[in-house]
Amino acid sequence: CAISLEVHSVIDSTNSYLIRRIPHQVKQGQVCVAEYQNSGRGRRGRQWISPFGSHVYMSMYWCLTQGISAAMGLSVVAAIAVSDAIKQLYNVEVELKWPNDIYANGKKLAGILIELEGQALESSHCVIGIGLNINMPMKAAEDIDQPWTDLQSIVSVEIDRNQLVSTLINCLIVRLNQHKESGIVTMLEDWHKQDLYVNKPVRLITGAKETLGICRGINNQGALLLEVDGQIKPIYGGEVSLRGL
Ligand code: ATP
Ligand code: BTN
Repeated sequence: CAISLEVHSVIDSTNSYLIRRIPHQVKQGQVCVAEYQNSGRGRRGRQWISPFGSHVYMSMYWCLTQGISAAMGLSVVAAIAVSDAIKQLYNVEVELKWPNDIYANGKKLAGILIELEGQALESSHCVIGIGLNINMPMKAAEDIDQPWTDLQSIVSVEIDRNQLVSTLINCLIVRLNQHKESGIVTMLEDWHKQDLYVNKPVRLITGAKETLGICRGINNQGALLLEVDGQIKPIYGGEVSLRGL
């Protein structure tokens, strides 16, 4: 598809911007990027620290023709696409943390936020948001309450954000089309090679409940496979967080 790209200086959130345009003012693969977000967000209303001119804040509209049940796998597909772009441009390996985070050297480098418009079960309108740290200003870093990193710390060449954004868009389109045509099953190997916790003990947090188990990667739908007492159970996204031990 032909890609249309809008670049904003200041915005509330690139995800919110595209969501407001659904269904008539947005086209398949339409992208919005911004230099600054004053209400950048992560999952469950958490804040995404978005200092001016330092990072990549990007969202793409994607209508799921294969039905809404495929939405669950989108954060896995997008995370793989981000890792493809980083590998392609800088020959650097990153780590993927189910369902939506990209790590480098055990610290958070990027996050993915998939949002569905309207009632989740009826809607096939998705917005895929990517926040990728490039060059973190020290002042902004004070507000991040977990270990973080940025691309400039792990790459030796100077990062050209325009080139990076165009590569990210291309890699996303390639993976989204692959997802549409042949599903996550064809990406399992790519995920497993980079899975931060595969075959490691983990803690799964669901609200107030915690489950200890061993991470066994993901399945064809993008669900986490958690081994508990010798049995492997799929964990479908939603309000869950995964932690190492
Ligand atoms: P999980 O996805 O496993 O639930 P998480 O703590 O990473 O865990 P998210 O909602 O995915 O939660 O991401 C939001 C969190 O990311 C924030 O609460 C903050 O700790 C961290 N964060 C916010 N901005 C940045 C940034 N620019 N770079 C790295 N980390 C950030
Ligand atoms: C997370 O780790 O919870 C996901 C963070 C996603 C941040 C990106 S930045 C572009 C887009 N706009 C937002 O408000 N959030 C996403």
